[in-house]
Amino acid sequence: MKILVTGGAGYIGSHAVLALVEHGHEVEVVDNFVNSSPESIRRVERLAGVSVPLHELDLRAEAELTALFEGAGYDSVIHFAGLKAVGESVAKPLEYYGNNLEGTLSLLRAMRAGGTRQLVFSSSATVYGDRAPVPYVEDFEPLDATNPYGLTKVMIERILMDLAAADPSWRIGILRYFNPVGAHPSGDIGEDPAGIPNNLTPFIAQVAVGRRESLTVFGGDYPTADGTCLRDYIHVTDLVEGHVAALEYLAAHEVSCRAWNLGTGTGTSVLEVIAAFERASGVKIPYTVGPRRAGDLPASYADAQRAQAELGWVATRGIEEMCADLWRWQSQNPHGFGS
Ligand code: NAD
Ligand code: WQD
Repeated sequence: MKILVTGGAGYIGSHAVLALVEHGHEVEVVDNFVNSSPESIRRVERLAGVSVPLHELDLRAEAELTALFEGAGYDSVIHFAGLKAVGESVAKPLEYYGNNLEGTLSLLRAMRAGGTRQLVFSSSATVYGDRAPVPYVEDFEPLDATNPYGLTKVMIERILMDLAAADPSWRIGILRYFNPVGAHPSGDIGEDPAGIPNNLTPFIAQVAVGRRESLTVFGGDYPTADGTCLRDYIHVTDLVEGHVAALEYLAAHEVSCRAWNLGTGTGTSVLEVIAAFERASGVKIPYTVGPRRAGDLPASYADAQRAQAELGWVATRGIEEMCADLWRWQSQNPHGFGS
């Protein structure tokens, strides 16, 4: 298939581009580098041994995007491009709604004009809001979220469902990611957050290389076995294989819009992640247990059965491998793509 990957220079997108090329697909990337650099794609090209056309473009530049689709003959789009920091979205709602919603609407119109009807969209477990019981099942309603970032995912899912209902020739896969972590086993590509990392594992990795002094564990009094929150951490390599499986499913089935969880189905606590990272790296992670972070839920993990039954996809890599691959990336690139 010929596939356009939006946000392909980002953390998950770059791993997806590599996996798609390895599966024999022809891939092009569109990105405006608002949260990434072209260096990730250069490294993907080195690993894959092929060149990947890179279009530097903001998705909201609809005329240019439409022109990109004209005559390109893309069979499918994987749509990663978006802003993703929860806290920042609370402080800058207009930027988040503007970028994520307008970017997606522009993309959908350009796809329609260019005759591309197959789309895989990066959604998030955040759409289960704070009322769904764990494990989260795809049919839970109503979708909701507790911050503007998450609400952009809820709204985009709604837009995609409405579009598919209006025109069933669309083939849309919605993938709800749990907590993507780790890096490609080569250590050449990985997550390179700008500024202070918001997420647990990049923060731990930066403590391990000496960029941060110590980790604060957000809350030790949750109703879990060790008092810290449970999350469904999923290796980014497993996650991107889920996209390949979804593309193949959409190409072979008459389904206009369908959502799948991409998670392992297992909850791991913050203290268990720290311990696994220490074993994988041999580095002691200094930490203190602080107050809870606003908005955190005690537990979030997937019911992963639908993806297994329908896509034939299952996550195979455990927390040890996630930490070992994260450590390889961070220790070889202490300052990310800038090092
Ligand atoms: P990322 O920030 O590394 O990648 C997103 C990419 O999109 C970046 O390269 C950025 O430059 C680009 N981009 C943003 N807005 C754009 C625009 N208007 N036009 C063109 N390019 C634009 O993030 P990621 O972790 O790789 O996440 C990819 C997708 O997966 C996002 O949609 C995110 O919301 C979703 N997601 C991520 C996680 C996670 O924990 N990483 C979890 C659930 C869902
Ligand atoms: C994991 C656990 C924290 C940092 C977020 C988004 C979600 C999705 C994935 C995009 C929690 C604890 C963290 C730290 C800590 N993104 N923690 N100290 O919050 O589960 O999910 O990323 O869709 O929408 O909300 O991930 O990595 O921030 O936190 O103790 O310095 O680690 O309290 O229990 P989260 P996270």
